[in-house]
Amino acid sequence: MRQERSGPLLDAGFWRAVIVMGIISAVLMYVVVVFPITRFLPEASSVSVPIDKLFRFCWFFGVPILVYVNGMMIYFAIRYRHRPDDPMDAVGSQIHDNRALEAAWTIGPAVLMVALAVFSYFIIPMYYPTGQAAASAVTMEAIGHKWYFEFRYPGLKQSVMNVMHLPVGVPVTLDITSAEATDDVLTGAVLHSFWVPEFRLKQDMIPGMVVPIHFTPTEVGTYRIICSEFCGQGHSHMWGSVVVDSKPDFDRWYAAQQHAAAAPAAAINLAGGDAAAGQTLFNAKCTVCHNAAPFAQRKVGPGLAGLFNDPAHPNLVNGQKATPQNVAGILQHGAHGTMGVMPDMQANGLTPSDIANLVAFLKTLH
Ligand code: CUA
Repeated sequence: MRQERSGPLLDAGFWRAVIVMGIISAVLMYVVVVFPITRFLPEASSVSVPIDKLFRFCWFFGVPILVYVNGMMIYFAIRYRHRPDDPMDAVGSQIHDNRALEAAWTIGPAVLMVALAVFSYFIIPMYYPTGQAAASAVTMEAIGHKWYFEFRYPGLKQSVMNVMHLPVGVPVTLDITSAEATDDVLTGAVLHSFWVPEFRLKQDMIPGMVVPIHFTPTEVGTYRIICSEFCGQGHSHMWGSVVVDSKPDFDRWYAAQQHAAAAPAAAINLAGGDAAAGQTLFNAKCTVCHNAAPFAQRKVGPGLAGLFNDPAHPNLVNGQKATPQNVAGILQHGAHGTMGVMPDMQANGLTPSDIANLVAFLKTLH
């Protein structure tokens, strides 16, 4: 027959612990109410304000749950620990069926969950557009690729890579998706996630599925776009930015994009390419997809060590001879074929002199 403890189950020490946890909770809940979130992360879109309110609501009630659950665990572990004079087979007090307690811990969280559901019911339609989507002044597309963001604007022939511009105060609907398997031949289609912390917007980019999100940028500035879904080797390189312009600045930028589309791209001038600078750049950008090794040592694309002197592969992926100028052409315009997809210079964030440096470095490889 095992012995049970006798004596009062909850003594004065228990109620003192309850009061201490209550004071800690009250202080932390006050901090939650006054905490200046925007000092650390500006609210730059129409949906960021209600999202922050919802966040503060969760945080406010989360604090006492955290304090009491963990506080009680620690308190009980200490208060009812095994004592040297306890028999080896002593067990704790066997307690069943405290109706008041069970009702409280069922009804309390249930009420909180229902409140969360009600708030969410009103907040979610603010950024997943329903009827009012048609009223958007701008509907555009965001497409996740390995490993860059592509943006398509109405009226622009060419896509914009990584750096998107939006006019302040204009509602926008962003159709979000990810490149299909046919666009990423070698490694297949993957999920990405479009995240702008300052907009409080995060949406998975899903191959074959277009998810529209709706918001209005409210603050002029430049904010991060982060891919927040692991999407392969280049995931950590996959970030861009969104530039929220005043309306005149946006119109100027848009006109410049239209003008750039009309003018044919000039060939890259390879004179003065710096191999050392090219090597640094290669290690920072190209090694996500390419080894500086023989052709067969592929990552996403082939190894590039024998690019200019490999008798087995005299031609580039686009069928052209492997000359410095043709390699520069692929770096400039990208390539799309059986080997997979090579993004263009805009998607890779390369300038013409970067390309000259990279070609100079590639020429040093054997
Ligand atoms: Cu795209 Cu991670």
